[in-house]
Amino acid sequence: MPSVVKINVLTVPAEQREVLEKRFASRAGVVESSDGFEWFELLRPVDGTDNYLVYTRWRDEAAFQAWMEGPMKQAHQSGEAGAERPKPAASGSTVWTFDVIQQTGPKTEG
Ligand code: HEM
Repeated sequence: MPSVVKINVLTVPAEQREVLEKRFASRAGVVESSDGFEWFELLRPVDGTDNYLVYTRWRDEAAFQAWMEGPMKQAHQSGEAGAERPKPAASGSTVWTFDVIQQTGPKTEG
């Protein structure tokens, strides 16, 4: 069964970039411990678009769904428990889903 890639596409106005990056710098760090989690990258746009990509890869759809239903909510609750959530840095978001059908890395010596 192939891994599944879930990319959250965030629309971030120029004046909110720093806010967004700071929030990710102090992200919960919960996703790393989720069953079936394989990879995370926060990708900053450098070609003039305002779309940051939150790249995540999972063993399968079920692993992603399980994270979404539990740890994800906690991880998106920054600040003190019970405190009001700060205004979101992103003005929009869309999730893209892909099956990984091929992958490779550099050849290793030997
Ligand atoms: C309304 C939609 C969403 C917005 C605006 C958003 C934005 C954010 C922000 C600002 C953070 C940094 C932590 C925080 O301040 O809360 C974060 C964490 C994160 N987001 Fe989202 N997010 C959204 C939905 C999603 C979805 C659907 C995914 C799945 C691909 C995702 C993947 C992640 C991951 C993996 C982290 C890091 C969690 C950790 O460290 O445990 N987000 N998100």
